[in-house]
Amino acid sequence: MTSQRNSFAALVGNTPLLELRRFGQALRLDARILAKIEYLNPAGSIKDRTAWGLISEAEESGRLKPGQRIVDLTSGNTGIGLAALAAARGYRAKFYLRNTIGDDKIRLLRHYGAEIVLIDNSEFLAEGAIHAIIDRVRRENPDAYYTNQRGNPANPRVHFETTGPEIWRDTNGEVDIFVAAVGTGGTISGTGRFLKARKPGVKVVVVEPGPASVPSPEVPYPDAIEGVHKVTEVDAGHLPENFDAAVVDEVIVTETAQARELARVLAQEEGILAGTSSGAVLFAAAALARRPENAGRTIVAIVADSGERYLSPPKLGPAEAEAPERPVAAAELAASA
Ligand SMILES: Cc1ncc(COP(=O)(O)O)c(C=O)c1O
Repeated sequence: MTSQRNSFAALVGNTPLLELRRFGQALRLDARILAKIEYLNPAGSIKDRTAWGLISEAEESGRLKPGQRIVDLTSGNTGIGLAALAAARGYRAKFYLRNTIGDDKIRLLRHYGAEIVLIDNSEFLAEGAIHAIIDRVRRENPDAYYTNQRGNPANPRVHFETTGPEIWRDTNGEVDIFVAAVGTGGTISGTGRFLKARKPGVKVVVVEPGPASVPSPEVPYPDAIEGVHKVTEVDAGHLPENFDAAVVDEVIVTETAQARELARVLAQEEGILAGTSSGAVLFAAAALARRPENAGRTIVAIVADSGERYLSPPKLGPAEAEAPERPVAAAELAASA
């Protein structure tokens, strides 16, 4: 197969599975952990798959028109994937983000030409807040295409059609346990459904942030694991529609500090720089790998994005919105060249 590709979309997916031998030896684990290195997607995270799933469905169904604006509420990575894909396919993009989001992600989004609206984190804490925020996003952008990553079935479907089959193919069907974190639930639901359809005994495990790592009225800006949410003790109305609880066999809890520690072990034992949610997933994978009943089993863990997105210190208070950079049209650049 030639490695020449003819579009951004053709670079999405088919990420490698890396066996974490040194990581396993360092932590004295008896199960085999395979990390799916999703930061090797073209815009740097597993969300490039989501972006491709959402956009290709909207194009095929005719709901997204050429040149139209795309809008969504995102924790950053979906926005980055959508912004990159929008740029590559001639759409405009606008994203609403919590004001706790790291500056690196905000700069990246602007670099791809996206417009950013920051929402105070405290607004997410009120009862029914998420629905009010989504209503606001739709109201303020009546002409835009709302990609709706939380509820659009195209999100889990892309994982059912790509992430799951790739894991199945690359493990020769030897996967026993699948571990991921939940933002919209697309990854866990789509991949989990596919793997269980192939092998009903596959165990699907979610890692969720512990009490010190989620916002509360007392601590609205904790040191959180960016992009991932709790799935237990949450009102059903607050869970994203794309999260399918029926596919989940177990939930393991971790705090941000533990997640960072596991991401550091990965970097120093394997040379793989993973983001905080990946550290959380590896914390759960290591806990599972220590159980005697899992000795010799194969655990697949999702490395959703790179640690390069989190090298700046965590933001424990609101971000000040920077003045948006004026986008320079390609035609203008060509004229000045
Ligand atoms: C860093 C990171 N990890 C994991 C996830 C979880 O992905 P999903 O939305 O498919 O549940 C997200 C999504 O927001 C994320 O940004």
